[in-house]
Amino acid sequence: MLLKGALTSISLAIAAVTTVIAVPVRLSLEARQKSDSNGTNGLTDLVTWDTHTLKVNGERLFLFSGEFHYYRLPSPGLWTDIMQKFKALDYNGVSFYFFWGYHSPKRGVYDFTGIRDIQKAFDAAADSGIHVITRAGPYINSELDCGGFPSWLQNMQSPARKYNPENKEASHEWLTEIDKYMTANQITKGGPVILNQIENEFSYNTDAEYMEMLKAKFRDDGMVVPTIFNDVGPNGNFATGPGAPDIYGWDNYPAGFDCSNPLAWPNDRSTDWRDFHERTNGEQPMAVYEFQGGAFDPWGGPGYPECYKMVNEQYAKVYYKNNYAQGIRIQNLYMTYGGTSWGGLPKPSVYTSYDYGAAITEPGLMTTKAYENKLQAAFLHTVKPFLTTKYFKPESDRSDIILIDGLADVNTPTKFYVAQHWSTKSEELDEFHIKIETTNGNFEIPRSSKLILNGRDAKILTTDYDFNSQHLVYSTSEIFTHQDAGSHDVIIVYAYEKEEGEFAIKVKDDTKVKVETNDDSVKSETNDGILQLTYTHPNGTSPIYISGGAEKDLLVLVAGYQSALRWWAPYLNEKEGKRALINGPYLVRSAAVSKDDKSTVAFTGDIDETTDIQVVLPDGIKAITWNGEKVQLEEKDKHGIYTGTLEFKKPDIKYTDLTKATWKYKAGSPETDPKFDDSKWITADHLSTNSTTPHDAGPILYADDYGFHTGCLWFRGTFNGSSEITGFDLTAHSGAASAWVAYLNGEYLGGFDVGNHAFTDLNDTLINREGENVISLLLWTTGHEDDFKADDDYKQARGFTKAELLGVTNQTTWPIVWKVQGNFGGEDLADPVRGPYNEGGLYGERNGWHLPGFPDNDWEDAKIPESKERTGVSWYRTTFDVNIPDGYDAPMSLRYVDDTKSRYRTLLYVNGWNLGRYANDLGPQTQYYLPKGILNTQGENTLAIGVVAIDEAAQLGQVILEPYDVLQSAIPSVELVDSPGYDKRQQ
Ligand code: GAL
Repeated sequence: MLLKGALTSISLAIAAVTTVIAVPVRLSLEARQKSDSNGTNGLTDLVTWDTHTLKVNGERLFLFSGEFHYYRLPSPGLWTDIMQKFKALDYNGVSFYFFWGYHSPKRGVYDFTGIRDIQKAFDAAADSGIHVITRAGPYINSELDCGGFPSWLQNMQSPARKYNPENKEASHEWLTEIDKYMTANQITKGGPVILNQIENEFSYNTDAEYMEMLKAKFRDDGMVVPTIFNDVGPNGNFATGPGAPDIYGWDNYPAGFDCSNPLAWPNDRSTDWRDFHERTNGEQPMAVYEFQGGAFDPWGGPGYPECYKMVNEQYAKVYYKNNYAQGIRIQNLYMTYGGTSWGGLPKPSVYTSYDYGAAITEPGLMTTKAYENKLQAAFLHTVKPFLTTKYFKPESDRSDIILIDGLADVNTPTKFYVAQHWSTKSEELDEFHIKIETTNGNFEIPRSSKLILNGRDAKILTTDYDFNSQHLVYSTSEIFTHQDAGSHDVIIVYAYEKEEGEFAIKVKDDTKVKVETNDDSVKSETNDGILQLTYTHPNGTSPIYISGGAEKDLLVLVAGYQSALRWWAPYLNEKEGKRALINGPYLVRSAAVSKDDKSTVAFTGDIDETTDIQVVLPDGIKAITWNGEKVQLEEKDKHGIYTGTLEFKKPDIKYTDLTKATWKYKAGSPETDPKFDDSKWITADHLSTNSTTPHDAGPILYADDYGFHTGCLWFRGTFNGSSEITGFDLTAHSGAASAWVAYLNGEYLGGFDVGNHAFTDLNDTLINREGENVISLLLWTTGHEDDFKADDDYKQARGFTKAELLGVTNQTTWPIVWKVQGNFGGEDLADPVRGPYNEGGLYGERNGWHLPGFPDNDWEDAKIPESKERTGVSWYRTTFDVNIPDGYDAPMSLRYVDDTKSRYRTLLYVNGWNLGRYANDLGPQTQYYLPKGILNTQGENTLAIGVVAIDEAAQLGQVILEPYDVLQSAIPSVELVDSPGYDKRQQ
């Protein structure tokens, strides 16, 4: 002990010394803002940093990243689809959490094949031109079972998230495996990985030695990209000193997680980050590694449409722009695509859908917020002076109600003004002016129109800005992007419809300027070398053409907000910042100058209806194709704007009407029968446990102690009857939304939420006083807790803390012999392809009733909705067809319709994959996503539903198969995930 303590302090001292050496002499804020020296970790020069931003390959960038979890979309073909959508929304980053438990069902066993083939996730990002942040924990939180730890860690004696030999060995085992992939995919090896996170929000019960151990392991394994750490908030944990990463940052969820009151926005914006950053890690860029992009929703919660209302596009405007005003230049939106916590992935508080109200919905659909994020990201990637600013306090005539932050580029005269209501919640419409100082003079803007903030809005105004061959004096409309189109320049600006806008550029000669437009609201005035346009933001987009002003003509496209949302700027050449501009489509995935015909741009994308488009093309481009087909274009005017129509051809989508299907039924809880043979079950005879849950007298009845970690569990207790016995006293311990059902000698005793129940009214007809009795307990579990506070909470038991007979006196031996049963094979998975979170311990699951090809011909015929009440567990099987033609995306779902009075739960198996846990009594989820790749969208599928009655009997309601939406789409081809049927089941 002494020796270990001594070693600990030595290694801490070494770490401290190293850190002291590594920290450069602190420059003043001003010197730092101007300096062009790069921060580096000494391991690579490909990713460096300074006080402003990251530099990748020497190039400064705003890292606009989104969180995506490959395990929440168990169909690798769709990872490419999602990464293409990120890119289309102008993201240049994605953050991947790697989920230890997903790859490791058993100590020493690791799987990176099939749906676990993370190389495909790296490739999907790289192919779409997206940088990757790796976050391999080992602890990741993320509303996952055990917060991402493997279930087998339940049985570790030592604490997790701490430095100790046992945990070191376990963590090293994981990191050795995952690091192989992460190191090979670093930018230094030509891959997309640019940053690597150590641990996750390690902000309670911290241990610097553990952090140092993780850092050393990553480094020893060859991770050379800068390390990052996400503090739970701007609290300074591991900002400096032992455990500190290369670039410290924090997380922030200002809207909270109560979606039932979506407009409440409980927390105002943070205005102290700038100072905190300056005090804490001013040499590094300001980073928010998780910023709220949606919210999770608990069992019984209001549902994701409400979370989407809470974290909507207005929230994105107000809170994200505030981040930029504070100085954030690395921003990861958690989640940008949430996906599905299928099977046993989720921790207890959350249900199957992890839609998260995110920018991209669970079935991969676009939202207004996604489009808003695109408007912001394109601005941040286009307007480079925004990357190197220092703060100043501007003057405004309404500083009482409007908060304006000034950001001045340190290299050019360009300045930015971020305007928002002082109260994020304000619904007021307020007018205001800002005093600006430019190289062209000082003004109070707007000079002759109104600048408005209408309720929950925020704006970034740009002044004194050289772009292409133009010089912008100021614009009260926000910039989306601008382009050099060859003979002329193009800029797209926007604000809400009906708001006035003012846009002023420098001109060479007042007398030579010509302004052409069809928009009657536009007024122009040229004085002292400045052309000022005033206009009303239209419904749609108005072109204004300025000639004779600068070296080149300028096309100003003034868009109303709805129209702006549908402007896309896919790169033609990202290195050169060359983009095509196209308005109208639901989604534009890519644009490329055709290889054979340099006068054609090939667009790919998706439409949801016949769509009129406007395209602005560089000189020399005369034609476009859309998903390979030529589009008839009309040259609207000489301004390089072309119009055309993308025709939506109604597809012939077919899918089985499940309400008319023939189903098969079989009863599935023979374990309740006292004569059931449980001789092969494990005897629960442990007398001690590593769980954190205290237990009463008798053997340990925690399933994890016997190697069963997921889904439903059975416990069977056998005891001899006697006249003394008056009842039982049982306490179930499991997570939120769990339930348990008790049977004695085959008779239903009751179904309960977790907690204690004493059965004291047992009569002689139930108990066999002379002979053997069997009590059967079915526990519906909802996963393990996480370890947010690093106190081993993930080790809470799943089972019974108390299970004793009442009335028995003078017992010498424990009177009940307990057996426990869970998923087939326990940690030695029967189905490694679908993996450790797919199956639980129901009889039907153990016997492969959920698998394609299971011979159900001797099952009873049934109809759904079920016409009969069924006791215990019931299984229903059918097959169904889906036919979605190529060139379309129609994400499919299965929806339950029932009144919520009856207490039952279901497991939804599609082609053997557990795609949903449903709680009829709790909700809120009724619709379940069936991802293409698991779902055969051009052929037959097998559906199996296991129904667990918590009440004495249950009657399954309606089950409906339907698409969420139908898109004519360039979705990449998705291969069916290769997964075994019943014939391959090892029994
Ligand atoms: C953070 C955590 C994430 C996730 C998020 C809420 O605290 O780092 O993993 O749990 O909260 O969704």
